[in-house]
Amino acid sequence: MQTAEIRRRFLAHFEAAGHTVVPSAPLLVDDPNLLFVNAGMVPFKPYFLGQETPPYDTATSVQKCVRTLDIEEVGKTTRHGTFFQMNGNFSFGQYFKEGAITHAWRLVTGHVDDGGLGFDADSVWVTVLEGDHESRELWRSVAGLPDERIQDRDLNDNYWHMGVPGPGGPCSEIYIDRGPEYGPDGGPVVDEDRFLEIWNLVFMQEEITNVRAKDQFDVVGPLPSQNIDTGMGLERVAYLLQGKQNLYEIDDVFPVIERASELTGRRYGANHDDDVRFRVVADHVRSGLMLMGDGVTPGNESRGYVLRRLLRRAVRSMRLLGFEDPALPELLPVSKERMKASYPELEADFARIEQVAYAEEDAFRSTLGKGTQIFDVAAQKVKADGGTGLSGEAAFTLHDTYGFPIDLTLEMAQEQGLSVDADGFRALMAEQRARAKADAKAKKGVHSDTHAYRAALDANGPTDWQAYTTLSTESRVLALLSQGEAVPALTAGSIGEVVLDRTPFYAESGGQNADAGTLTWSGHGGGTAEVLDVQRPIKGLVVHQVRVLEGELVVDEQLSADVDPEWRLGARQAHSGTHVVHAALREVLGPTALQSGSYNRPGYLRLDFGWSGALSPEQLHEVEHVSNRALR
Ligand code: ALA
Repeated sequence: MQTAEIRRRFLAHFEAAGHTVVPSAPLLVDDPNLLFVNAGMVPFKPYFLGQETPPYDTATSVQKCVRTLDIEEVGKTTRHGTFFQMNGNFSFGQYFKEGAITHAWRLVTGHVDDGGLGFDADSVWVTVLEGDHESRELWRSVAGLPDERIQDRDLNDNYWHMGVPGPGGPCSEIYIDRGPEYGPDGGPVVDEDRFLEIWNLVFMQEEITNVRAKDQFDVVGPLPSQNIDTGMGLERVAYLLQGKQNLYEIDDVFPVIERASELTGRRYGANHDDDVRFRVVADHVRSGLMLMGDGVTPGNESRGYVLRRLLRRAVRSMRLLGFEDPALPELLPVSKERMKASYPELEADFARIEQVAYAEEDAFRSTLGKGTQIFDVAAQKVKADGGTGLSGEAAFTLHDTYGFPIDLTLEMAQEQGLSVDADGFRALMAEQRARAKADAKAKKGVHSDTHAYRAALDANGPTDWQAYTTLSTESRVLALLSQGEAVPALTAGSIGEVVLDRTPFYAESGGQNADAGTLTWSGHGGGTAEVLDVQRPIKGLVVHQVRVLEGELVVDEQLSADVDPEWRLGARQAHSGTHVVHAALREVLGPTALQSGSYNRPGYLRLDFGWSGALSPEQLHEVEHVSNRALR
């Protein structure tokens, strides 16, 4: 049975039983605890917790999920896939254990001609949480399961929660016996390869918090109602029903392996090392496709980094299989052809997806070309010297000069039987970050040595910062600095820093440039200074960099601090404009077009955002159109 057909049957089964069919949510969630959606229930979480009222009592979905905790395990064992789909049915206070068990049993063992999945009732085993006599009794009465095929398990196996504060409850899992050739008898408590879990029925009944381990958490209290959350692994059911050994061999995934085999001239199934590589390629190409489909772009942090790793691992595995040409243009379309039946938007968006993917592969190919040589030389030297590990310095050079991510160095070292001094590497990275920070500050005319600022702050307390309330204040000079040292006076023509008791000047932050304006005084013969820059070098202290135009400025002078109102207005307009353009970009390109920096001053704005590849003229035009509409 094709994967798309299993999916269709699942949804049809529950729709016929009155469930609302809800489309898969995107893989990206607005939840600080989750990188990606990793279970079918994630989009329904507020309903379970009673924070929002669901628009339906019961629902069913096939949810895209990504789990990347064990990326290195992909392909080595046959059970790890980074992308998978979870079929689920959900009840919000309508049916509970009996309904969930009845629906599941009918679908799993229902005859294929009647819309069921057609599993042999005698091959089904289930587990329940120890002490959950109600579920055990239901499996007996509803399904007629004999007692020995209903196994008790503890909280560790049969209580489900998200791993973070949220809803949770006891669960009951459904397993299929694949037969004696897969392992010993005795049910899932003995062997989870022979007895393969296909469906988890969760009886959501309480809110939990303070999660320390799978079986260690605190119960906040009962949920407003008793709910059902279930998750059936679509790929697992597919490989059972397609007579395959694992998820890499199902109809939606295997064509990528076949194409990789044609390209490399190597055969899948010939040796373990190559098989692992083929599986990595098939899994990662598909996961990458789905992530890019949902708008993720490769980057150096968080989600973007997960995508980058997946694409790079796929490319590198093709190299290890002997294929040196660009691989993604050969493989990505194959995956898209398989997945578009369930996700037609992949076809519609494919031009964008291709562009992102191929640009990433190109960049990685040049990185690999240079870095691999350096790596090989370093590895050979370590071995020649009788060593077993690559130094932190070597790993750092690979990273810093050749753009080799540390996990790539780790993987390549492992393939050569070498370790890497990861602590040494991290120490060098930390030093480099500190240097970069100091450099950036120095460029802004602020001294990286902060002792004089700290002394000013300690002596006088934080600056009374009035930037949001007024454009001019009467102020007193608390301290003057030249070259980072306190001085008693600044003379005409000199540049130095001024600390005032209060100031109306906006200090550079959030991408808005500091205010321009003047300081004017009448004591000591009078004078003026032009404000060149305003920074907050340490928390609480505002520092003005000035050029004295006339007269002499001394400590304790009373003066008038005036922001140029035209300047401020222009900077604010530019700053607002940046926010509008950012919103428009996200509307046109998707939620992952995120701002990474900006710079605003009168008549000028710059917005930096993470995106691979240039925007097309149409996209640019649309961004302009959306921005102008908002401004109007
Ligand atoms: N939420 C449950 C799971 O992910 C169904 O296994």
